[in-house]
Amino acid sequence: MKIAWLGLGLMGSRMVRHIAQFHDVHVYNRTASKSEPLKEICTVHTNIKSCVKEADVVIMMLSTPDVVEKVFVSDVLPHVKEGTIIIDMSTNLPNLTTKLYTQAQEAKLHWVDAPVSGGLGGAQNATLSIMIGGDQSIVKRLMPLLELMGSKVVYCGSSGHGQHTKMANQISVATNLAGLLESMEYAKHVNLNAKDVLTLINQGAASSWQSIHNGPLLVEEDMNPGFILAHFLKDLRCVMHEANLRSLHLPIVEKITSMVESIINEHNQDLSTLALVEYYRCNNPK
Ligand SMILES: NC(=O)c1ccc[n+]([C@@H]2O[C@H](COP(=O)([O-])OP(=O)(O)OC[C@H]3O[C@@H](n4cnc5c(N)ncnc54)[C@H](OP(=O)(O)O)[C@@H]3O)[C@@H](O)[C@H]2O)c1
Repeated sequence: MKIAWLGLGLMGSRMVRHIAQFHDVHVYNRTASKSEPLKEICTVHTNIKSCVKEADVVIMMLSTPDVVEKVFVSDVLPHVKEGTIIIDMSTNLPNLTTKLYTQAQEAKLHWVDAPVSGGLGGAQNATLSIMIGGDQSIVKRLMPLLELMGSKVVYCGSSGHGQHTKMANQISVATNLAGLLESMEYAKHVNLNAKDVLTLINQGAASSWQSIHNGPLLVEEDMNPGFILAHFLKDLRCVMHEANLRSLHLPIVEKITSMVESIINEHNQDLSTLALVEYYRCNNPK
């Protein structure tokens, strides 16, 4: 297949390598320098029009709902051929997803939502969980392609259901992360050894992806971006948006959203989500 890939950030730059081994892949990134390392295995474009115009499939791995909508409506939709499948692998609003799906349909295109979970390690090692929404007949055709990037590739239902599943996933990520930070904060204040506490957590009922993968980084104070605070806040706001549409009360997400907002006001939003630890440090000086 001829595939156009838009978005070579932390995730996209790793994921695209797995499909470039098997398909004719064309890439575009707003910051052109990020395309450079891929020029041996992909065709690099300096504008979206030339990147997408011959594509059978366009994959977007972009930052926010606003960016996905703008790139699709202004730069992709006018230039792709009829029948092209658009896959949005960014974490996006379910509500916007169904709107873009309809817009795509009206233009005789297909829209599939396929957000991912598993972090930079998952992107690097092609072990992502991929949550898919859209027309089942189209999704069926895409399975072999998506399986090149993930080890758990699951059809979740009609358009928007991949993103809804990702919203549920992010609620769990947020609560697990905040729980880990809160328990480690307690451990610090009663003078326990952080490494020992973490080892025990990871061997017992409190273990989670966050404690296993982010726990050691927390102990080492490594706040380098994997999943950045800005995207974490974007995801929490997407969850709150969908919850508000349904008058759904999510008290823990609400609290964590305000914690992340207060941290972003004072710190670099490009730090990893672990920088949420600063919330505890500001409020519990030791
Ligand atoms: N990082 C993770 O662990 C992780 C895990 C699961 C899901 N996600 C989700 O996956 C998506 C990508 O994450 P990431 O970590 O790869 O983000 P990232 O490193 O910030 O990359 C974002 C991408 O969007 C592009 N972009 C931003 N604004 C743009 C604009 N106005 N026009 C065109 N392109 C624009 C960026 O281009 P430039 O290079 O020019 O800035 C870059 O290619 C996000 O929706 C995120 O929530 C991330």
